Amino acid sequence: MSKIKTAFFCQQCGYESAKWNGRCPSCGQWNTFVEEKIQKDIPLRNNNWKQQELGPSDNIINLAEVSGAEEERLVTADGELNRVLGGGIVAGSLVLVGGEPGIGKSTLFLQNALQLPHITTLYISGEESAQQIKMRADRLKIKNDQFFLLTETSTQTIFQEIKKLRPQLVVIDSIQTLQSPFIEAAPGSVSQIRETAAEMQRFAKETHTPVFLIGHITKDGAIAGPKILEHMVDTVLQFEGDQHYSYRILRTIKNRFGSTAELGIYEMTGQGLRQVTNPSEILISQREDELSGVAIASTMEGMRPMLVEVQALVTQSVYGTPQRTATGFDLRRLQLLLAVLEKRGGFHFGVKDVFLNLAGGIRVEDPSIDLAVLCALLSSYEDIAITGKICFAGEVGLSGEIRAVNRIEQRIAEAEKLGFDKIFISRYNKGGQTTKFNIEVVPVGRVDEVYRQLF
Ligand code: TYD
Ligand code: MG
Repeated sequence: MSKIKTAFFCQQCGYESAKWNGRCPSCGQWNTFVEEKIQKDIPLRNNNWKQQELGPSDNIINLAEVSGAEEERLVTADGELNRVLGGGIVAGSLVLVGGEPGIGKSTLFLQNALQLPHITTLYISGEESAQQIKMRADRLKIKNDQFFLLTETSTQTIFQEIKKLRPQLVVIDSIQTLQSPFIEAAPGSVSQIRETAAEMQRFAKETHTPVFLIGHITKDGAIAGPKILEHMVDTVLQFEGDQHYSYRILRTIKNRFGSTAELGIYEMTGQGLRQVTNPSEILISQREDELSGVAIASTMEGMRPMLVEVQALVTQSVYGTPQRTATGFDLRRLQLLLAVLEKRGGFHFGVKDVFLNLAGGIRVEDPSIDLAVLCALLSSYEDIAITGKICFAGEVGLSGEIRAVNRIEQRIAEAEKLGFDKIFISRYNKGGQTTKFNIEVVPVGRVDEVYRQLF
């Protein structure tokens, strides 16, 4: 008979050791080692490989014989949430929603749960009292008699209550407050988060009940708790936005049931979150006179075109080292574009302070915004406004070439819909049928061509 093999694992960081330690040599935490069996006590003669003539397996399934039923989805009243989830809430899915404190996670899910009138929902809060939640629900002005509250943090008590109520949707606010009685560690610690999430996952899969886990994120943007949490859940959403603006963005980071390129936009109002169905209208500031340093980009967020206003301010530098600041746009990308202008266009940005801002507190990662950024910079540098209703869609390469971007037809259509007269795109965007539009499409190949046409 072989001996049972065990090892000691740090419950905080997963460090493995042959002997018990008071303090983990890897993460420095005290008293975190727990002995775990790593090899089951199975006698060697029972080794399955040695047995002859095994019958056909009951456990192995031929994929062709699995019935390919579409996953069941619960379509909510919130179009933005449905889209971000890939078409509604999938039965038995475990969804993690991360976001900074105060951004509106509790509001979003309270509102969504209240808007499902024929579904029994259980909202479990470890953070707020029933009165606080009631006050918030009153503020949202939605009535629902199938909505139930539980203020509890112990997972085993929660499961007992769930057995009595049999909810069809469970929201947990937040995973950092949950506590499993099987683990000693404090709520919010790595091993608690891992264990409680695993218990919730088993519950979701076994009962086909969708479960939303709300999670706080740390300063550097990661969901507090181990990365392992992201592997365990089916979908990871991030709720983000600037505290000083009212716009909020719900982004998909991982989704086993849909695309991760999707994005939902909301506005925080006095009565909860409002879906923003036409984001372009809010992202372009309404103003009469034309100012220098402003350019409009036709970008894509997920499958949705969105016009974004880029604002640049280029001023004479007072200090030796010129300043570069970017809000909503990658700072390194800005430095790269400035270098392109310096080298390929002969502009002297080296002695200028440069500030860049995307209106509305939004963050754009689509590289097609490059051309608009570049034009905003040039407009501020020359102090000449870009006149007329013009927008841009193009990526800028290191040698100053304007590169093609995807889904050009959708971008042009959006610009046309919002009343623009002219759109600058890359000359290399050949694939799209650009002649069928009423808006004037100007193909450009290099940065200097754009400059000559605009100023
Ligand atoms: P909350 O959902 O509590 O954030 P989180 O759960 O992410 O910590 O939202 C808190 C903020 O939202 C708070 O500053 C108040 C604001 N708010 C509104 O502006 N309007 C509303 O209708 C509600 C309910 C909240
Ligand atoms: Mg909250």
